[in-house]
Amino acid sequence: MIKWDEKYEIGIQSIDNQHKELIRIAEDLSELLTNAIEGDDIYDEMVRIIGELSDYTVYHFKFEENLFELLNYEFKEAHKKEHDKLISEINALDLRAVDEDQVAYGKKILNFLITWVFKHISGTDFKYRDLFLSKGIK
Ligand SMILES: [Fe+2]
Repeated sequence: MIKWDEKYEIGIQSIDNQHKELIRIAEDLSELLTNAIEGDDIYDEMVRIIGELSDYTVYHFKFEENLFELLNYEFKEAHKKEHDKLISEINALDLRAVDEDQVAYGKKILNFLITWVFKHISGTDFKYRDLFLSKGIK
């Protein structure tokens, strides 16, 4: 179950909005999987949503990383490493395997992404919060 919660809010509007957008795309995927009836071919739609998620993730990470540079954030390297790892994991997804059992495969991807995003926000993104706020980032 994907649910945005106030506890994930960092207090920087631009970033909170981007995080919410990531969750919204994940919800689209979740909905697609939930509504799929056995035998439905959801491959194209699933690939489309995963592509959207991947593009938006790249955009969002770049946004954060630009601010890390600008503010000379002390943990920028470690943070970027987490970003790079996720991007390469997304790129390594073998979407051809989806055809075997589309819903099961989609759920696996969704689970992985959601766990990652929430963990990353509450564990890693919160660390830059005070710096960003003190520099007036909105
Ligand atoms: Fe991040």
